[in-house]
Amino acid sequence: MSKYETVLEVKQVSNSYKGKLEKKVLKDINFKIHKGEIFGLVGESGSGKSTLANAVLGIIDYNGEILIGGKNRKDYNRRELSKQVQAVFQDPTASLNPAKKVGWLLEEPLRVHKRGSVSERIRRVDEMLELIGLDTTYKKRRINELSGGQKQRICIGIALMLEPDLLIADEATSALDVSVGAQILNLFKELNERLNTSMLFISHNLNVVYWLCDRIAVMSSGEIVECGEAQNIYYSPEHEYTQALLSSIPKLS
Ligand SMILES: Nc1ncnc2c1ncn2[C@@H]1O[C@H](COP(=O)(O)OP(=O)(O)OP(=O)(O)O)[C@@H](O)[C@H]1O
Ligand SMILES: [Mg+2]
Repeated sequence: MSKYETVLEVKQVSNSYKGKLEKKVLKDINFKIHKGEIFGLVGESGSGKSTLANAVLGIIDYNGEILIGGKNRKDYNRRELSKQVQAVFQDPTASLNPAKKVGWLLEEPLRVHKRGSVSERIRRVDEMLELIGLDTTYKKRRINELSGGQKQRICIGIALMLEPDLLIADEATSALDVSVGAQILNLFKELNERLNTSMLFISHNLNVVYWLCDRIAVMSSGEIVECGEAQNIYYSPEHEYTQALLSSIPKLS
């Protein structure tokens, strides 16, 4: 893949949840994520960030077009899609089977996708533990013997096992203690540098998004009101919603 290859393209995507009142949650969303890029999606609670992530992940339907590696998302079957796009969510405990050991969980995507021999799979699990900043003794640990930060590292490891082109992180550090969250952010940056995995990083915190991301899209009531280089969005926001978001947080110098 060349540096400027598009990993994800979202074109005129809209979505409404059908209820008593049909409410438009996404309104004509457009953006692209390039290979190796960390793209931040920021906005207040309820602005539609997770809905957009869920559309990309194939969890919900939408109008418009989502292209993953140039191919329509709706033309992927679940198995193919899971090789291209993976996600990490806010609560690692909810994503992991507490009865299983770390080694078993990390190996599972390889078993399901019939990748490699047993010894190759064990080697890949060891490599992944090193990448996510844990040593191989963790293989024998059960999930309920890990801290929140360690569990989130395992979720990230599982997500990267099939070497997806795109990793979606939806509020992946929001539930963690500030210092632990900062370590996970560092891990995302390091993994992006080492593996060149593109990321859609979702957060309500502009400081965090600015620190991690190359480009940022600002979302308000289902619309992207502003999108651009992180530096520009953070230091010279044009839209009043972005300005309001920025004025509500202590700014990094
Ligand atoms: N399954 C659903 N059915 C009906 N409405 C929903 C559903 N999921 C989300 N919504 C509504 O869609 C809107 C966008 O929700 P979404 O979860 O995408 O926001 P968000 O930006 O991820 O918020 P947060 O920062 O709190 O995670 C909200 O008004 C929410 O109430
Ligand atoms: Mg959300």
